This record gives sequence, C-alpha cells and structure tokens, in this order.
Amino acid sequence: MFITFEGPEGAGKTTQLGLLRDRLESDGWNVLTTFEPGGTPVGDAIRQILLASDRDSGPVARAEVLLFAAARAQLVDQVIAPALRRGYIVLCDRYNDSTLAYQVGGRGLPRDQVEKVTRFATGGLVPDLTFLLDLDVRAGLARKRSTTVDRMEREELSFHEHVRAEYLALARSEPGRIVVLDATRPIDELAAVITRRVIEKLRDAG
Ligand SMILES: Nc1ncnc2c1ncn2[C@@H]1O[C@H](COP(=O)(O)OP(=O)(O)OP(=O)(O)O)[C@@H](O)[C@H]1O
Ligand SMILES: [Mg+2]
Repeated sequence: MFITFEGPEGAGKTTQLGLLRDRLESDGWNVLTTFEPGGTPVGDAIRQILLASDRDSGPVARAEVLLFAAARAQLVDQVIAPALRRGYIVLCDRYNDSTLAYQVGGRGLPRDQVEKVTRFATGGLVPDLTFLLDLDVRAGLARKRSTTVDRMEREELSFHEHVRAEYLALARSEPGRIVVLDATRPIDELAAVITRRVIEKLRDAG
C-alpha cells in the first residue's frame, strides 16, 4: 500500500506522516517512510539545487519540473517500488500532486505536459491513498518557524494561493484517492481520522 501526504507549506504533512508510521508500526505493520525531493543520493543532490538556489540563479520553471521528476524517478525505482514489492506500507511526504499543485497551479505550466512528465517519471505508480492537509496559506507559512527560508517559501502569497487552489481542484477530480482534511483541526484529531481511513483501506485490500 502506497500512501502520500500533500498540502501547502506548514500544513502538518510531516507531523501526520510520523504519527501514522508510529501507529502502524505499533500495530505490527512493516512501514517505510520517505520524502520528496530526496530520499536517494541522486534525489538529495537534486533537492539542494531545487530548494537552495535563489530565484534568479535557480532553475527555470520547466527545469524545475524535470528536476523534481528526475528525483522522483530515482525514488520510485530505488526506494518505493522495492519496498512495495516486499509488502511494506510506504508513506511518502509529497509526490506527484505536489508537482501539479506547485508547477501547474503555482508556476502556470500546462497541465497536460506536466502530467506526462510525472507519469513518465513514476512509470505510472499512483498512490492508493493521499491525504491533502488543506490550510489557509498565511496560517501555514506562519506555522513554519525555521530560520532558513527555501526557494518555494520565498514566493509571493498569490503563488501559494494558486498552489492551494490547484490541490483542491485535484482532490475534486480524484475524490476516491485524495482525502481532504481541514489542517486547522487538532493534531490528534487529524491523526485519528487518518488512521481510520488507512485501516479501512488496508481491510478493503485484504
Ligand atoms: N493540526 C495542527 N495544528 C496546529 N499546529 C500544527 C498542526 N499540525 C502541525 N502543526 C505544527 O505546524 C508546524 C508545521 O508542521 P509540519 O512540519 O508537520 O508541516 P509540513 O506540512 O510538513 O510543513 P513543510 O511544508 O515545511 O514540510 C509544526 O510546528 C507543527 O508542530
Ligand atoms: Mg514537512
């Protein structure tokens, strides 16, 4: 089973992924957690390019899509697919939907072309379940107290508004896969909803 966590900056993706891992492991499941961009040596090198460079010296929008796609191809082949074959539950912090939200919604690239690139990168591997933690963008950015601000976080508020809107549009188009959650709810309440949905899904999968 392949589960992804999505949502704008500071929505609680990493928090909920960790809580779900703990719960599943304590129930005896084999769980592998990973994240994007990164999770492999090639992916980690790409992450540095994507997040560290400033706006002017960094990759242009199309290069950005391709770099994310390259990191994802590496992650799918070297980490995610092998773990799924061994029967692990794989939890990934961001995946395809992030590319659509940020590069189509945020940067305004053509959706059909970006979809083709992501499909090529993943070999068609789509999550069984995706949790979209939805949050007002100001609230999300305010939650992040890190001293270093990466290239995405430095974007205008309107960029982040477009990202959020694209996420919600994706969720409307794939209601069976994407579960939208109000990320302002308390952490433990969200964790309980997420756990319940995952357990249902595991039961359905037999
Ligand atoms: N439901 C919640 N209510 C209030 N605060 C929360 C909630 N979930 C997470 N937080 C807090 O918000 C901050 C950001 O959470 P977290 O790092 O999990 O978000 P993220 O979506 O992974 O962010 P990023 O986009 O930076 O990866 C943390 O300080 C976390 O404790
Ligand atoms: Mg995070």
